[in-house]
Amino acid sequence: MSRKVTKAVFPVAGMGTRFLPATKSIPKEIMTLVDQPLIQYAIDEARAAGIEEFIFVTSRGKSALEDYFDGAPVLEAALESKGKTKLLEALRKSDMDSGAIAYVRQREALGLGHAVWCARRLIGDEPFAVLLPDDVITGDVPCLEQMVDAYEQTGGCMVAAMEVPYEKTSSYGVLDIGEDHSSIVSVKAMVEKPPADQAPSNLAVIGRYILSPNVLENLNSMKIGAGGEIQLTDAIDAEISNGDGVFGYRFRGQRFDCSSKAGYLQATVAFGLARDDLRDEFATFLDDFIRMRDAAE
Ligand code: G1P
Repeated sequence: MSRKVTKAVFPVAGMGTRFLPATKSIPKEIMTLVDQPLIQYAIDEARAAGIEEFIFVTSRGKSALEDYFDGAPVLEAALESKGKTKLLEALRKSDMDSGAIAYVRQREALGLGHAVWCARRLIGDEPFAVLLPDDVITGDVPCLEQMVDAYEQTGGCMVAAMEVPYEKTSSYGVLDIGEDHSSIVSVKAMVEKPPADQAPSNLAVIGRYILSPNVLENLNSMKIGAGGEIQLTDAIDAEISNGDGVFGYRFRGQRFDCSSKAGYLQATVAFGLARDDLRDEFATFLDDFIRMRDAAE
C-alpha cells in the first residue's frame, strides 16, 4: 500500500524570460487566465488531490506570489461592508491556512532537479507531488487526482504523460516504455529533451509528478545533465533500477503549455469559453472576428 501524498512542490523560481517585458516586474505564475493567476489553477488541482502542504521554490523577484497567498483583511472588510459576497468568495480562493504554505529559495538557476532538491528538508521521508504551474490541465477529474488514484495501485514514482509529435520531443522529458496498460505504462528509461531521431518514443512527461523521497537522495549526487542543468528527469530515471518502479500516466484531459505565448493564448480562449458568465459574448466575438478576418483575406 502506497503512502498518502500530502505535500506538493511548486517550482516557481524561473525568470519567465519568454514573457518579457511583462515578467520584468510580475512573476509569470501571477499572469492570469481570465481572472485567476496561473498558480491558482495548480493550487486548486493540488487541493483536489488531497495535498495539504504547499512548498514553493522561489527566487528573487517573486514576492508578489507571497503577497497573493497572504490574507487581505482591508480588502475583505471593504468588500464585506459593501455586501459584495461573490467577489469575497473569489478572493477567499487564494487564502491559505497559516503554516500550509512554505517558501524556499533557489539561489541559483541550476535546473528543475535542483529546484525540487531545494525543498528536501521540508519534504523529509515521504512521497510528494511536483506541479509545474506552466502546464495547465483541464479535465473532468483534475490530473493530479487521477494520478493519486493510479499511484495507489503502483507506488514507486509516477509522471504525467502525453503523446507529442516527434519533432517536439526535444522540448520534453521522454519515456522509454516497458509494459503498456493504456493509462499506466511502466518506464524502462527517461531521457531529457532528446532530439527526434534519438527519442525512445513520443510519450512525453508533462509537469505533474508523484515522487518517492529517494528521488531527493538521487538529487544529492546528481550531475549536470541536458541543457547544462540538474535535471529532475535524470533523478527519476535513477529510480528505475534502484527503486519501486517508475510509471507514466496518460491522463484524461487537455494540457495547455502556458510557458509559451501560443499555449497561453490558447488557454485564455479555452478558459474564457468555459466560463458561463463570458461564453456567449466571447464566442460571438470570436466568430465575428474570424468571419471578418476570412472576408478580408
Ligand atoms: C520540464 C521538464 C521536462 C518536462 C516538461 C513538461 O521542462 O524538465 O522533462 O517534459 O517540464 O512541461 P521545461 O519545460 O521546464 O524545460
